[in-house]
Amino acid sequence: MSKLTIHNLDLKNKRVFMRVDFNVPLAPGDQEITSDKRIRASLPSINYALEHGAALILASHLGRPKGKPNPEMSLKPVARRLEQLLGRPVKMAPDCIGPQVEAMKPATGEVLLLENLRFHPEEEKNDPAFAKQLASLCDLYVNDAFGSAHRAHASTVGMVAFVPKAAAGLLMEQELKYLTMVTKNPAHPCVAILGGAKVSDKIEVIFNLSKIVDKLLVGGAMAYTFLKAQGRPVGKSLLEDDKLDLARQLLTSTQDKLMLPVDHVVASEVKQGAANQVVEAIPDGMMGVDIGTKTVEQYSKVIAGAKTIIWNGPMGVFEKLPFDKGTVAIAKAVAQSGAVSVVGGGDSEKAIKAAGVAEKISHISTGGGATLEFLAGIELVGVAILPDK
Ligand code: 3PG
Repeated sequence: MSKLTIHNLDLKNKRVFMRVDFNVPLAPGDQEITSDKRIRASLPSINYALEHGAALILASHLGRPKGKPNPEMSLKPVARRLEQLLGRPVKMAPDCIGPQVEAMKPATGEVLLLENLRFHPEEEKNDPAFAKQLASLCDLYVNDAFGSAHRAHASTVGMVAFVPKAAAGLLMEQELKYLTMVTKNPAHPCVAILGGAKVSDKIEVIFNLSKIVDKLLVGGAMAYTFLKAQGRPVGKSLLEDDKLDLARQLLTSTQDKLMLPVDHVVASEVKQGAANQVVEAIPDGMMGVDIGTKTVEQYSKVIAGAKTIIWNGPMGVFEKLPFDKGTVAIAKAVAQSGAVSVVGGGDSEKAIKAAGVAEKISHISTGGGATLEFLAGIELVGVAILPDK
């Protein structure tokens, strides 16, 4: 990678401010962490820093507290989980700046987790005075928060100007390595699988990937907007009626690269276990909830011949069984393909796990919006700001 990384820093007895993305899902009420994937993904950088003699300050946002302290979005549950994972104490700061935090600065080998950066409105405003205060806590800055690298905030962009030295963490390095591998000079055939509800969320991704890939397989509710744009019946499927012209333009500009489902699982309501059938033309009063068996076959054939696969978004209403079948079948096809595969987005990742094939995927991204921006060909601000080697 062209950016300085944590490997290039002398960490011994240095106070390291590591921006991580601990924006993990919490169960309402007891605030139990429902997926600690992002915490685990930061462990290589955290352990590396500790093994190399750093005093470690970890900082993250959690949720969108809109610039105000909110106990439901405290990072305290994360400190407890991190302690279990690291097998050493993690001190929890009551805030991310101020005298109390300064008094808690860690010594070599210690770990301090700052409270949610977004409890201060200055974080998202990328306020220079706030960025300077954060920077004053440390000797070195490491950004390992790939999931937040598309945000121009004080902790991801602003504070870089105020620290003596900055570098990327190991997760950041790993994410960029794989995402770059599959988008710049990928091995062909290169196949993108795009799902999810809305065409509007993926316009830039479709435009950009259509320049790179050989085939673009579309699933999820966004397929119905494309099908309607082609004049096909979609019943009462989820649609973006105001995006039909755009869908037509995308169909024209991507030419024969874009493949749409040829059959569909339909139901009269989106409900777990709802009665359903597979049809080629969606009847009035029914809605598409998953790709059908012929589509799974067609897409699986394309996937089997691929050397590179990029996947973002589920093929159906994955969270309501049995409408996960199409997504799970695609997950299995990706795993069996032997291609270099990069998967991003929470639901496609869940499908990979449900199919029990996670270890056969080259890289499962921790990013949501950041991964989509990368796939859309947009330079991530939190990466651009880091110094080159
Ligand atoms: C994410 O979950 O995608 C990142 O943590 C960024 O969160 P945000 O969309 O609230 O900025």
